[in-house]
Amino acid sequence: MAETLILPDNRTKKAVYDAILPQIDALVSTEDDRVANMANFAAALKEAFGFFWVGFYVVKGDELILGPFQGPIACTRIRKGKGVCGTSWADGKTVVVPDVDAFPGHIACSSASRSEIVVPGFGQDGKVAFILDIDSEELGTFDEEDKEGLEAIIRATGKYLV
Ligand code: SME
Repeated sequence: MAETLILPDNRTKKAVYDAILPQIDALVSTEDDRVANMANFAAALKEAFGFFWVGFYVVKGDELILGPFQGPIACTRIRKGKGVCGTSWADGKTVVVPDVDAFPGHIACSSASRSEIVVPGFGQDGKVAFILDIDSEELGTFDEEDKEGLEAIIRATGKYLV
């Protein structure tokens, strides 16, 4: 397994995820508007890690539609099964992409994006309701630690995002 990444302030990624979960929960559990909550959720993650792009895609009919995000402008609509986001939606699973050029069908919203992680969020009906997408300008940014950290945050706070 890759060595644990130490962030500039000497904290491990796990320490940052553990610290940020209750902060995001406090932010979103006191507001019932999903757009406001997605916006603050994305901002909190961008601030904590300095990710290149953090944002949401929301399931509407047979498409994902761009929701609140932090970072450069992005594609607005993604079909089920298309790209990393559409694959995560179709499979209902987190997808970690160490090298976007090696992912068949990757949708390049920005040519600067080199790796990404996509985590699905579920509605009360058990179906995927939204996708959290995080992009990096570097290869191999995301690993099991990010998957576990982000899935834990989505498990805890997803009900405030639907
Ligand atoms: N790369 C994603 C599209 C969304 S952007 O990265 C913000 C994909 O392949 O689904």
